Amino acid sequence: MLVRFVRVPQQDTERVRRELDTKGQVLRGVRFLHKDDDVLIPVNCDVQGMEMVERDVEVVQRPRSLSEALEGVLTDEQMAQLRTSFDVVGDIAVVEVPEGLEDMEATIGDALLSVIGGVRVVCRKMGPTAGEFRVRPVRVIAGEQRTTTVYREHGCNYELDLSRVYFSPRLATERARVASLVRPGETVMGMFAGVGPFTILTARVQPAVERIWSVELNPEAVTYMKRNIKRNRVTGTVLAVQGDVREVVPALGRADRVFMPLPKGAHAFLDVAMAAAADDAIIHFYHFTPEDVRFEEGAALIQAAAEEADMGGEVVFQRQVRSFSPGICQVVVDFRVTRNAP
Ligand SMILES: C[S@@+](CC[C@H](N)C(=O)[O-])C[C@H]1O[C@@H](n2cnc3c(N)ncnc32)[C@H](O)[C@@H]1O
Repeated sequence: MLVRFVRVPQQDTERVRRELDTKGQVLRGVRFLHKDDDVLIPVNCDVQGMEMVERDVEVVQRPRSLSEALEGVLTDEQMAQLRTSFDVVGDIAVVEVPEGLEDMEATIGDALLSVIGGVRVVCRKMGPTAGEFRVRPVRVIAGEQRTTTVYREHGCNYELDLSRVYFSPRLATERARVASLVRPGETVMGMFAGVGPFTILTARVQPAVERIWSVELNPEAVTYMKRNIKRNRVTGTVLAVQGDVREVVPALGRADRVFMPLPKGAHAFLDVAMAAAADDAIIHFYHFTPEDVRFEEGAALIQAAAEEADMGGEVVFQRQVRSFSPGICQVVVDFRVTRNAP
């Protein structure tokens, strides 16, 4: 089929694509083409002021799933190994390619591009989230060569680089839950803040908050967080602080609410959270725990930390946030702190 394309220099592709997309001018079901150093974007109309070219190309119907896209491409044995679940962060899909399918990673990546509308990059998970910054190593296996994106959640936009900062879309519901609990006049201590999805959303949901500290160790995450604070117009309400929670939080004063979204290790910082909590404050404590003790371990840890700090308190809410790995889940425990307990 004869298709019209807009020809743009490689470096302008994303900007032009977004502009065309906003106007509904990008033609679906047709791949972008490359010509010398330029990219050809398929369009459904003549675009004024842009160089137009025509090419005879195949128009494909979008497959409904990754398995359908790879039917007849992978062998039955390979299909049995295929991981069909993936995360989408902005316009990047993040997928696991199991051992034995490494040689097919580009094919799997291309198939994902054809399945999910709006996805421009496919990254392969190259290992688990690791290190103090909880970053997951990823590699681009299809689409544009980048790991930066803008992710939209609950009306906020977060700019981030998946290869340099932690980010998971799987906490979206939890972020909305805690943000909705914040009352006017509260001071919030956002520990382990990453690029800001807990603290920025909170400021948007509760603009009458007194102040929200947003503390993060990874300098690159803090750079993105500062941009995201501006992008979401919460400057002056969300205050970015780069540093180790243990070192910087004691100087920031007491808070009415403390976020602790570091499920692998937040318990080692419960003493800092207790010291930062005002009387009647709520601590939202995230914890990885075996599923069979999901509502015991986290609660016991935070209760013990309160006693250790010579404080009282009680669990006011807890729930499983998500399954993490076989037998292990992430829970949140909301704990109301009582200072000067009798
Ligand atoms: C699991 S991520 C959560 C990030 C963010 N809250 C989110 O939901 O996307 C934990 C974050 O805590 C940061 N971190 C780890 N140890 C820290 C510490 N001692 N002080 C401050 N931040 C820390 C990591 O760099 C990482 O960005």
